[in-house]
Amino acid sequence: MQENFRQFLGRLREEGELLDFKQPVDIRHIATLVDQSDKAILFHKVIGYDMPVVSGIIRTRERAMMGMGAKTYREIEDRLANAIANPIPSRMLNTSPTHEVVMQGDDVDLYKIPIPMSSIFDGGPMITAGVVLARDPELGLNSGIYRFIVKERNLTGIDIVTPNNMRLFAQRAFERKEPLPISISLGTHPIEITGSGYRAPLGVDEMGIAGGLRGAPVELAQCKTIDMPYIADAEIVLEGEILPTGWTWPEGRFGEFTRLMGGLHWNPLVRIKAITMRKDAIYYSLHMPWENTWLAAPTRYAAIRQALRTAGVTVKDINVTLGGCAFWHAVISIKKQPGEAKNALLAALSVMDLKHVVVVDDDIDVNDPMDVEWAIATRVQGDKDIIIIPNARAKPLDPSLLQGAGIVPTGAKVGIDATIPEGIPKEHYERITYAYADSAKIGDYMKGKQDKPGKAGDKKEIEALAAKILAVIDKEPLYYTDIAERFADYEFRSVAQALGHLHATEKLWQDPRGKMCVRGSKFAAKLPVKGGG
Ligand SMILES: Cc1cc2nc3c(=O)[nH]c(=O)nc-3n(C[C@H](O)[C@H](O)[C@H](O)COP(=O)(O)O)c2cc1C
Repeated sequence: MQENFRQFLGRLREEGELLDFKQPVDIRHIATLVDQSDKAILFHKVIGYDMPVVSGIIRTRERAMMGMGAKTYREIEDRLANAIANPIPSRMLNTSPTHEVVMQGDDVDLYKIPIPMSSIFDGGPMITAGVVLARDPELGLNSGIYRFIVKERNLTGIDIVTPNNMRLFAQRAFERKEPLPISISLGTHPIEITGSGYRAPLGVDEMGIAGGLRGAPVELAQCKTIDMPYIADAEIVLEGEILPTGWTWPEGRFGEFTRLMGGLHWNPLVRIKAITMRKDAIYYSLHMPWENTWLAAPTRYAAIRQALRTAGVTVKDINVTLGGCAFWHAVISIKKQPGEAKNALLAALSVMDLKHVVVVDDDIDVNDPMDVEWAIATRVQGDKDIIIIPNARAKPLDPSLLQGAGIVPTGAKVGIDATIPEGIPKEHYERITYAYADSAKIGDYMKGKQDKPGKAGDKKEIEALAAKILAVIDKEPLYYTDIAERFADYEFRSVAQALGHLHATEKLWQDPRGKMCVRGSKFAAKLPVKGGG
C-alpha cells in the first residue's frame, strides 16, 4: 500500500468516516468538537489561519484498522510483528512536495500553523503528531513521536522525560555540549506513526519497521537547514535542534494517554530553524488520548505475544484492555499445561511497563470483562495465584507513583493466575447447562410449537415404570434428566413418581457425581468420613 496522508484522508471521506466542516471555526473549539464526534473532522476554515486542521483520524478501532489497511485488529499486530522481523530500509529522494513552501531564519513562524490546545490545563498550543527523526554519531537513526509545546515563534519544548531512545540521544548530545538536529514530520500516514511509536531497541531504525509495514521503503528526503532526513510525503516539516539546555525548562501540563493530566515536566528547548510545507498543507492535530491509544496498542500486543512465544506458551487470545489505557493491563487466555499460567504471567510481565496481567484458560473470553471477573472469582486463591514483583521499572506517567526531577520511578508488577488450579476435580468446573438446549428452541414456541403429552400411569403402571428404571440404573448410573429423557414417552410427572417410589422402597441412591443408582450397589456414594471432601 503506497498511500500518503492526504490519500488516506480521501479514503476516510469515501467511507463516511471523515466530516468536512466548511464553516469558520474557532481553533479553541476544535478539541472538544473532535471529542464529541465519532468521525474524524477536517476543519476547512480555522479563524485566523490559512491552513485547514484535521483531527481524530485514528480515534476508533475501525479507523486504526483502516489506517493499516487491515481487515481485523489482530492483522495490525501480525503485520507489525512481520515488519519488526523483516524491516525494509528507507529510500532517499532528492526532494518532495513538502518543500513547496519554505520558511527559514526570521521567516520561521510557528504562529502561522493552526496548532490547537486540547485539555484545559495544557501549557500551550501542542504539536501532537510529530514523527521525530534524529541521528546519533554511534547509534544511528532513531524515530519516535514526541509532543512539543509552542513557546515562541521559533521555539518549543520537547517532551522527553521518559527513558526512551530519543531522550538518550539528547542526553548524549548534551554531554557533548552540542545541539541535536531533529526533523519533525507532521501529517504523515498512520503507518509511519505506528512504526515510530514502536519502541524498538537502540540502534534499530523504526523507519525500517514502517517500511516493513508498508511492504515498500519509506521515502525520506533531505532537510534544508540541518543534516537530517524527513518523511517525504509529510504535509509540514519542522527542522530544529534540541538545544543543549538540559532538562531545565518547565513544559506542560500534557493530557496523557492515561486519560489524566500529567504534571509539569522539565524538558529541553527546541529551536526551529525552518518550516517547510506543501502549498496547500493540512495540519494534523492528533487527538489525545484516543488516537494515541489506538496507534500504540498494536505495539503492546506485538511485544506481549513475542514474550509469550519465547516462554513457549500456547496463547489463544490477548486483550490489552482499554480500561488499562491500552498500555498497563493484559488479559491472556492460554491452552494450559500444568504450571504454564505462572510461566505466562512471568513472560508477559517482563514486557516493559506492563503492570497487571491476568491469565485465564481458553474457555474464557478475554474480551468479556464479566467472563474474566468470573474466572477470577471462581479460579483464584489469592495466596497461591497472585504474584507480586516489587520495584520493577515503571512508567513515570503512572500517577500512583511519586514523580519529579531526579526520581526514576519503580513500581509493582502483579500477575493473577485465574486458570483452573491443578489437582482440583473436573466436576468443580462443570458449568450449568440446560437440558434440551439443542431441541427446545424459544423461536419455535413463539411461533406456537406445542409438545405432545406422554403416558400418565396409575399406581400399577408407576410401579412397573419404577422397575424398568431400576433395571437401567442397575447397569449404569444416570442423571435424573437422562432418565427423564430415556423414558420420554411417559409424562415427566410419572417418571418423578416412579423415582419417588424407588426412593420410598429404599432402592434409590446416588453415585459420587450425583447420578441415580441402586442403593447398596458398587456405584453408590459413601457418606464422607469426618474431615473428608
Ligand atoms: C501519539 C503519540 C504521542 C506520544 N508522545 C510522547 C511524548 O510526548 N513523550 C514521550 O516520551 N513519548 C511519547 N510517545 C511514545 C513514544 O513515541 C514511543 O515510546 C516511542 O517508541 C519512543 O521511541 P524511541 O524510544 O525510539 O525514541 C508518544 C506516542 C504516540 C503514539
